[in-house]
Amino acid sequence: MTAPDVRRLVTDALDRIARAEGPAAVRSLEAELLGRRSQLATLRSGLGALAPEARKEAGRELNAARARVEEALATRRAEVDEAERRSRLEAERLDLTEVVPTRRRGHLHLVTQARDRLEDVFVGMGYTVAEGPEAESDWYNFEALNFPADHPARAMYDTLYLELGAPESTLLRTHTSPVQVRVMEATQPPIYSVMPGRCYRQDTADASHLPNFHQIEGLVVDRHITLGDLAGTLDAFTEAYFGPGFRSRLRPSYFPFTEPSAEFDITCVFCKGDGCRTCGRTGWLELGGCGMVHPNVFRAVGYDPETWSGFAFGFGIDRMVIMRHGIDDLRELVSNDVRFLRQF
Ligand code: DAH
Repeated sequence: MTAPDVRRLVTDALDRIARAEGPAAVRSLEAELLGRRSQLATLRSGLGALAPEARKEAGRELNAARARVEEALATRRAEVDEAERRSRLEAERLDLTEVVPTRRRGHLHLVTQARDRLEDVFVGMGYTVAEGPEAESDWYNFEALNFPADHPARAMYDTLYLELGAPESTLLRTHTSPVQVRVMEATQPPIYSVMPGRCYRQDTADASHLPNFHQIEGLVVDRHITLGDLAGTLDAFTEAYFGPGFRSRLRPSYFPFTEPSAEFDITCVFCKGDGCRTCGRTGWLELGGCGMVHPNVFRAVGYDPETWSGFAFGFGIDRMVIMRHGIDDLRELVSNDVRFLRQF
């Protein structure tokens, strides 16, 4: 054995190690290159036959060769282990994307989209959002809102009663105004809140009425709130929701829970105020009611009407939707015709 032989042996081994693919190949190469039957082992066992000086020299050379081969094996082992770990992870990766090329994705219903946008507009003005139950007691829907029993204004609301408790004591709320009472009972002023939700009335569906519809109620209670605050708020809301150029106006009206009360109109979306058939040539469309909170409503929830004042409003969300999108029949919103729904 000569030194060049050993060097060739190492070069050869390193080359094979570098080309070994996979942990199993590295392991068997390790046995072949370093094991009992390896060339290195054979060379080592031949050392005994050498003269002492030459043996020492050759021994050193063999040790160095073995160290280089061991090191190369360790490096290669780390590389193939890492490569294997990567490919295992890659194989185990879950592809969670769903590709359904032939099916359309659904989306939120137009009314839900409108409700979300309305909430956003008011949240942007610093309001909180509250909700209340759809099945209500007579107290919340009427009594606390200053409709005593047999008050004629109750006839404005074609109430659906539930067979629960005493006759006519439980009902499907006819408006979102009962949530005002619940919010006031649960918190202390100042209050700046909107309360969206479903309402029910005994009504036959037609182009401008649905027996099940949506309202968004607003309630502000603070010190020194005036009708001017109400008008300014509604005007800001109109522009934020419908866009620049839309104005609002208030017309005197009557609700038991506000005094004074008003109807709230906005510029007709169809004729932009010029007057057309939809708006009865007035240039205005009615959106809902509003007014200054009646002192009796404050008394019903234990607020002192001398200290607190406030305004409230209630709009039909479905109406706002059809106005905003120029739809001519409320029933489109509930007939579930996908050709209609897909457009929004
Ligand atoms: N609740 C009334 C309705 O559905 C609308 C309304 C009018 C709500 C005046 C209010 C208000 O909060 O102040 O007819």
